[in-house]
Amino acid sequence: MSVINRFIEAMPKAELHLHIEGTLEPEMMIALAQRNGIQLSYADVDAVRRAFAFGSLQDFLDVYYAGMSVLVTSRDFFDLAFAYLSRMHSQNVRHVEIFFDPQGHTARGVTFDTVLSGLVDALERAKRDFGISSKLIMCFLRHLPEEEAFSTLNDACRCRDHIFAIGLDSSEKGHPPSKFSRVYREARQQGFVAVAHAGEEGPPAYVCEALDDLEVKRIDHGNRALEDPYLVQRLVNDQVPMTICPLSNQRLKVCPDLRQHPLRRMLKSGLLVSVNSDDPSYFGGYLTENFIAIQSALDLDRSEIIQLGRNAFKSSFMTDAEKQSALDQFDRFVERFDWH
Ligand code: ADE
Ligand code: ZN
Repeated sequence: MSVINRFIEAMPKAELHLHIEGTLEPEMMIALAQRNGIQLSYADVDAVRRAFAFGSLQDFLDVYYAGMSVLVTSRDFFDLAFAYLSRMHSQNVRHVEIFFDPQGHTARGVTFDTVLSGLVDALERAKRDFGISSKLIMCFLRHLPEEEAFSTLNDACRCRDHIFAIGLDSSEKGHPPSKFSRVYREARQQGFVAVAHAGEEGPPAYVCEALDDLEVKRIDHGNRALEDPYLVQRLVNDQVPMTICPLSNQRLKVCPDLRQHPLRRMLKSGLLVSVNSDDPSYFGGYLTENFIAIQSALDLDRSEIIQLGRNAFKSSFMTDAEKQSALDQFDRFVERFDWH
């Protein structure tokens, strides 16, 4: 293995853009379908994998929502999240901020509390067993009406101790952030931090709306912000974190050829960008694999990898003291790493 890949593997990492439902591996999908007596349209693991060829975000979402139908009990959500966290432990990930999509479950009759209790148990166990710290980000599905988002926000308010932030995901085109201005205003008043997917497939104006109307503290994706130089300058000046997902961008055809990926350009412009996996089961790689793929495609050098590694901790919602401690540990790791 190359020395840069050894470095990537061993480096302490943080992940900030990860949909827990997107970690559902085909093997677990088939096993949970059997355990819960759910009829899937895929006969076996190979049939699931064959469905993982996407032409667009919507193509992926259709498979993603079909897949999550096997998640029924708290134990299912625990098993899903604990499998992801165990894998993150093996990849030297120290901190995760995890999205979940309650409306993908409540619509099927699985209660909000069933979902949340399984996830919280897994996060607590990962803190105990692996020392991984975490936060939960509850997403609204943007293709659904505002009214349903309000009702989901009500559930979140009952469980405020366990949910740090709110996010916005699902089909972007035709569902601008401003559709959820009122929901976000209420959520911010209730003390939730705001983030949103914007500029993945949608135009730069959606990134502006996320900043102005939703008052987000971080942009998820944001690739298309690069089409607007004034917006780039604003994101640089305000050091708004952007969570970039290389393998997702490749698989969803946001950037079909990773050698054309703008990540280096983003770094050079001074944008606060980090590397993330989005939906690793569906896009062919977890955090380390995303780093390795983008390093190899762009021939990123060690200083660029170090900057991306530090940016993830800087962009996180840890307290300033926690960030400083994580960054100090990161810097100590870099100093001691044997490059020979
Ligand atoms: N839900 C899960 N992954 C997503 C993505 N990359 N974009 C929008 N919604 C999503
Ligand atoms: Zn995402």
